[in-house]
Amino acid sequence: MAHTLQLPDLPSWHELQTLAEGMRGTSVSALFNREVQRAGDFTASAAGLTLDYSRQLLCRDSRAALLRLAEQAQLPRCARQLFSGVALNNTEARPALHTLLRARTAPAGLETEFSRVEDTRHRMRLWCERITSGELRGFSGQAIRDVVNIGIGGSDLGPRLVTAALPAWQGPIRCHYVANVDPADLQNTLQQVQPETTLFILCSKSFRTQETLANGEAAQHWLRTAGAGDEDWSRHFLAITSDLDAAAAFGIPADNCLPLWDWVGGRFSLWSAVGLSIAIAIGWDGFNALLAGAEAMDRHFLEADSAQNLPILMSLLEVWYCNFFQAANHVVLPYDQGLERLPDYLQQLTMESNGKRVSRDGETLGYDTAPVLWGAAGTMGQHSFYQLLHQGTRLCPADLILPLTTTTGEAAQHRLLVANGLAQSRALMIGRSQDEALASLQERGMEESAARQLAPHLVIPGSRPHSVITLDALTPHTLGALLALYEHRTFCSSQLWGVNAFDQWGVELGKDIGQSILRRLDHPEADKTLDPASERLIAEWFRAQAAARTTTG
Ligand code: F6P
Repeated sequence: MAHTLQLPDLPSWHELQTLAEGMRGTSVSALFNREVQRAGDFTASAAGLTLDYSRQLLCRDSRAALLRLAEQAQLPRCARQLFSGVALNNTEARPALHTLLRARTAPAGLETEFSRVEDTRHRMRLWCERITSGELRGFSGQAIRDVVNIGIGGSDLGPRLVTAALPAWQGPIRCHYVANVDPADLQNTLQQVQPETTLFILCSKSFRTQETLANGEAAQHWLRTAGAGDEDWSRHFLAITSDLDAAAAFGIPADNCLPLWDWVGGRFSLWSAVGLSIAIAIGWDGFNALLAGAEAMDRHFLEADSAQNLPILMSLLEVWYCNFFQAANHVVLPYDQGLERLPDYLQQLTMESNGKRVSRDGETLGYDTAPVLWGAAGTMGQHSFYQLLHQGTRLCPADLILPLTTTTGEAAQHRLLVANGLAQSRALMIGRSQDEALASLQERGMEESAARQLAPHLVIPGSRPHSVITLDALTPHTLGALLALYEHRTFCSSQLWGVNAFDQWGVELGKDIGQSILRRLDHPEADKTLDPASERLIAEWFRAQAAARTTTG
């Protein structure tokens, strides 16, 4: 069997272990004293984004060793393979060509796929314009005013994030997102819209996803209850899918279906027709600017030297903390309300891609892969979990994302947000020593023995490693670049870890078991063949159903 080179097989592995050991006793402030040009030297820019990684526990020597690791893992070659359509998704024997969705010209050998992308882009544009111009009418003749995207995972998170992130680009049509199979999700949205003026987009690459089909059927029922006839309801539906037959079987006319291809992974799909709700919300020009920003990051990823290459640098930092400092998590702190959902989006992107335990050829890995990703928009996180970041015992490497101006027009208040972001970054780095804590308490008039007792509680170790990603403003272009940056970082890390970033077998078992549980819930008289823990919970469910019937009856 083929043997994928594993991370510890790379020549730099042992050197990095020694360097990481040396780093443990030092502080970021000491690194700044030692490396005079550090603030500028540990900064790289591309596509409107600047990555400042000077506040990382990384010196010039360790950076050089990490860059050697990137070379040994042949990251630039892997990038070229990704873009050229090599079947990197080896367990499903297919390429991962999301970069083609934002390409401006056909890469050699991918002309057929590119012409399909262009045709679909053209059809997306027509739909977008029909809807935003008011030309598209519902069953009572009124123009469509609301669009509800029904999808989950990659068919939801990206479009939902981008739509919320760009309020200044918001056009006349309101886009809503429904994902959860919990009927409350759809109900909450339906309460805000009218049947005559609402268009549903059933967004599902497979068109087999239980949540999406159940919500789609419920939406269809809602339209019919409001008076839409057999001919009517289907014009309130579009489908985005790679299974056009399944969409037809659902009752959606062929003209209302836009295709997706097996070489677009769900979590990489917002650039495809899956992004139709984005285009409707922010307009066709806005959607194109999003693609252009992503494409600018693609070119940077392909062309820039590793030492200046944002995705490669961020991936090396991820591996540095994960594998040499045993950091089990990574926190994302966007200082922008519009990016509130970025952690949710990145959770799927990074953990569904790299939450793997075997190499590409199926060998068990002897090291950790994707860290747990979490986060929240600043400043809300500051009043919640930052206490742990500053004084807790866990290592939480962070990305702080900071647009420097606002597009909402409230510049004076936005200044406060920027000041908070900069302050937190500085506090994470410099911390506060025991002596400083003592002095500040005494300055405030506290008597010495009381101050000595309290001071240890005020000590903040500092040197909490983080990068700051700045952008002049959050626009469709910079947002496209930011999301492509994280896509490529995820890909680079998968290559360093030797895993397939493009499959997700781990989520299938739960779906299969879900089907058998459902059959069991529908047949109370069936034999109890499941494990005792599951049977106990099922019995509890039957009891609660009976109790609810008694109460309502
Ligand atoms: O459950 C995981 C998953 O397969 C994701 O990878 C995907 O984004 C999501 O479900 C939705 O899948 P689909 O677009 O096929 O409905």
